[in-house]
Formats: sequence, C-alpha cells, structure tokens
Amino acid sequence: MGRVQGKVALVTGGASGIGLSAAALLAREGAKVVIGDFNVEGAREAAETIKNEGGEAAGVFLDASSEQSIRDAVDFTVEQYGTLNVLFNNVGLTNLKKDVDVVNMDLEEWDRLMNVNTKSVLLGSRFAIPHMIKAGGGSIINTASMAAFASDATRSAYGASKAAVVNLTRYIATQYGKDNIRCNGVAPGLILTPAAKNNMPEPVLDIFAKYNALPYHGEADDIGYTVLFLASDESKFITGQTIQVEGGHYLANPTVPDFKAFMAQAAGASQA
Ligand SMILES: NC(=O)c1ccc[n+]([C@@H]2O[C@H](COP(=O)([O-])OP(=O)(O)OC[C@H]3O[C@@H](n4cnc5c(N)ncnc54)[C@H](O)[C@@H]3O)[C@@H](O)[C@H]2O)c1
Repeated sequence: MGRVQGKVALVTGGASGIGLSAAALLAREGAKVVIGDFNVEGAREAAETIKNEGGEAAGVFLDASSEQSIRDAVDFTVEQYGTLNVLFNNVGLTNLKKDVDVVNMDLEEWDRLMNVNTKSVLLGSRFAIPHMIKAGGGSIINTASMAAFASDATRSAYGASKAAVVNLTRYIATQYGKDNIRCNGVAPGLILTPAAKNNMPEPVLDIFAKYNALPYHGEADDIGYTVLFLASDESKFITGQTIQVEGGHYLANPTVPDFKAFMAQAAGASQA
C-alpha cells in the first residue's frame, strides 16, 4: 500500500525539476498523476516514464499564465481519473535580467511574475476546490521560495510574488479547512534543478553552498519528498504551513562568521 494510494494528483510544471520529482514520487507511492506543463512533450515523456515503471500518469498542456488553460488541466484530470485529491501548484518563474531592484524594475515583468507565480496558485485552487469538496477533501501544496522570507539585492517581484503565495496558502487553509481541504506550502532554498543551473553561474552556486548549514546542495527530491508527505494523510493535521527546505541556509544569525573570527582572534591574543 503506497503512501498516497489511489489519490488523484495534478502537478503543474511537472516536466522538469521539482515538479518532475514530486510527480514521480507521488506515482511511485500509488497516486494517479496528471503532469501539466507548458512543455507538453516533456510532460508526456515524464508520464511515459512513470507508466514504464508501473505507475499511472498522463501529460497535458498547461500554461500557468492562462486562466482557461489552468481550468482545462483541472477538467482533464477529473475526466481522466474521475476526481482530484491533490493539487501541486508548482509553476514559478524568475528573471535575473528584468526583475531587479525596486527603482529599476521592469514593470511588465512585475505583472508577469505576479500572474504566473501567484495568480496561478489562486486559479489552480479555485478550479480544484469544488472537485475536492465533492471528493470529501483534498490537499493543495504550493511552491513558495525562501525568497518569501528573506530579502535580496535583486529579484524584488519574485520575492514579493512568493511571499504572496505563503499568505495565500494560509487563506486557502482557513477558508476550506472545514471542507477537509488542507493547504500547505514548501519553500525551497537553492535546489539544483535545470532552472537553477541555467540561471545561476557556477560561482554563485558555490556562494550558496558555502552558507548552507549542511555540507551539500539541495536536490529536487528533497522538495519532492516534502510534497509527498504533505499530499499524504501522514500530514493530516498540518494546514496553512509553509515548510522551509533549505539546508539551514537561512538558519544562523548573519553575524556568526564575524563573531567566530572575533572569538578566535581573542583566544589567540589571550594565549600570546
Ligand atoms: N530550483 C530552485 O532553486 C528553486 C528555489 C526556490 C523556489 N523554486 C520554485 O520551484 C518551482 C519549480 O522550479 P524548478 O527549479 O523545478 O524549475 P524548472 O525550470 O526545472 O521546472 C519548471 C517547469 O515549469 C514549466 N513551466 C514554466 N513556465 C510555465 C508556464 N507558464 N506554464 C506551465 N508550465 C511552465 C517548465 O516547462 C518546467 O517544466 C518554481 O515555482 C520555482 O520558483 C525553485
């Protein structure tokens, strides 16, 4: 018996990275999974791989910037598998060139990121919730980011859009809790997905690794397993929470390295 046996799940942005990991793990643990992605070929390929491993899956075109497309993907899931129990709202975009500091921000990019990163979570949930209510409940999981909890010199729209996802998660949890619908988020730190590798030059990846409490980078499965837990009944008393999965990157007081250097210097001086 799998951890999400018999549940029907829709994963957005499931052709790559975090979504692909979650889709594969959900299917391995007994869920029937629809993979929705802009890259429909990738979504279908991922579904084929799952089927070849004995799971149940289908790929479908989904454009997270389009209300109609999100509605169609939810409808497809229900037509395909009869119901919808788990929605993983995972699509999210970042743009290091246009999404910069507040004064120089490209305002069209601000609107685009708010639309794809935040409004798609609202829309996916809006279309899924009536089906979940019919099914007697469900679990919605949203991909936020550690950028929701810490600020940066750049990527203002990304951070604001992901902070909105964290609070929207609480609103959905509050509004539909009595319908037995849970809503939680996962906030990844840097995860070595194709997107991260394409967006971040090697030296930047090294800076991130240096400041992790743990001695390694995060991988897509680190988020995938968190999503699996939140989708399963193992987490049935958890709702409205966003779990930070970031290797301790944001754990310590930022003065720690300076303080350690100061203590080492003071110890050296007292021995001299
Ligand atoms: N990788 C990280 O370090 C990291 C850190 C924090 C948060 N996140 C968040 O995790 C989520 C997934 O990121 P990832 O790193 O796995 O990315 P990825 O690029 O590896 O995968 C994203 C998938 O989404 C699809 N996609 C992009 N735009 C789409 C659209 N408009 N409609 C439908 N599908 C679309 C892509 O085709 C791709 O398959 C995003 O919300 C991202 O903001 C990632």
